[in-house]
Amino acid sequence: MTSDGPEDGPRRHDDVGYVPVPLDRGATFYVAGHRGLVGSALVRRLERAGFADIVGRTSGELDLRDREAVFAFFRETEPRYVALAAAKVGGIVANSTYPVEFLSENIRIQSNVLDAALETGVERLLFLGSSCIYPKHAPQPITEDALHTGYLEPTNDAYAIAKIAGIMHVQAARREYGKAWISAMPTNLYGPNDNFDPQGSHVLPALIRRYSEAVEAGARTVTNWGTGSPRREFLHVDDMADACLHLLEQYDGPQQVNVGTGSDVTIREIAETIAQVVGFEGETVWDTTKPDGTPQKLLDVSKLANAGWRARIGLEDGLRSTIEWFHGHGGALRGQP
Ligand SMILES: NC(=O)c1ccc[n+]([C@@H]2O[C@H](COP(=O)([O-])OP(=O)(O)OC[C@H]3O[C@@H](n4cnc5c(N)ncnc54)[C@H](OP(=O)(O)O)[C@@H]3O)[C@@H](O)[C@H]2O)c1
Repeated sequence: MTSDGPEDGPRRHDDVGYVPVPLDRGATFYVAGHRGLVGSALVRRLERAGFADIVGRTSGELDLRDREAVFAFFRETEPRYVALAAAKVGGIVANSTYPVEFLSENIRIQSNVLDAALETGVERLLFLGSSCIYPKHAPQPITEDALHTGYLEPTNDAYAIAKIAGIMHVQAARREYGKAWISAMPTNLYGPNDNFDPQGSHVLPALIRRYSEAVEAGARTVTNWGTGSPRREFLHVDDMADACLHLLEQYDGPQQVNVGTGSDVTIREIAETIAQVVGFEGETVWDTTKPDGTPQKLLDVSKLANAGWRARIGLEDGLRSTIEWFHGHGGALRGQP
């Protein structure tokens, strides 16, 4: 209860005096976005941990943009725990083409869920944001304290502002209502149930799809954007789900927590590994007339390490199993199993 300003570090007045304890396996746990990349991994993790009453609704069953419907759902199910992994998510093309939708839909989804959770007395809640909340030129690796210190990457600033509003909403609920709610900011994620649609996907699923299709078509070359030199961090979504449960049971605090591996690789290295795993023997061309994006994006994960968690799934193993999953699902786009 001592400081207010960023110069003093995280806002201590958001401390609510909650001491983390193991979650009750019999309590109702609502995973918003339970069919998505993160949500589905979290459901698998919770099931493995013995949770007996995991609740999920598809966007068709419950549109989280519909405030009345969300409140009705919370009153009916009365979840004790919530993980908010539902969001309008996309890669650089989708984000820069539809900034209004990325801003407006995400603000509505999270405001509805957080307000309904407040009204119905949800005890523990985890809000998921993204590393794009940090300034474009944040020093690497990016610490949690970099939030609010500079301009955002313009291609996804609308999405990032929505996520920053979500973090603030969680902090405000702590400050005003003493809720022991927390936020986590994952790095780039990958794994089963990812979005492999070329129009909306992130870099890693896009590469998996491109190389797989090249093998299928017998193509001799694959062309990727840029030089391949940017460095990126990738976390397997099963690790992410494990970190979510760990944070819910072991961490409390107002400041968002970065979730990543703490190490990065070049896009070229990723492309080469994927090419090798899918059996592509042709040539990779780097179209250097196309932009590279930011040269490096790596999260500082010391806060998470201090909370007792670290990533376990190696990149090559994770890629192998994700590619197997993709091929096992007919290389299909999401929604077309
Ligand atoms: N993927 C990454 O690399 C990454 C990295 C950092 C942070 N994150 C964060 O992690 C969270 C989850 O991302 P994800 O990759 O798991 O996304 P995802 O695979 O696209 O899943 C998002 C889920 O949100 C649900 N959803 C979207 N709009 C909805 C609506 N109006 N009503 C109800 N449900 C709705 C969808 O449900 P239906 O399937 O039923 O339509 C979908 O399953 C997001 O907050 C994202 O910012 C992801």
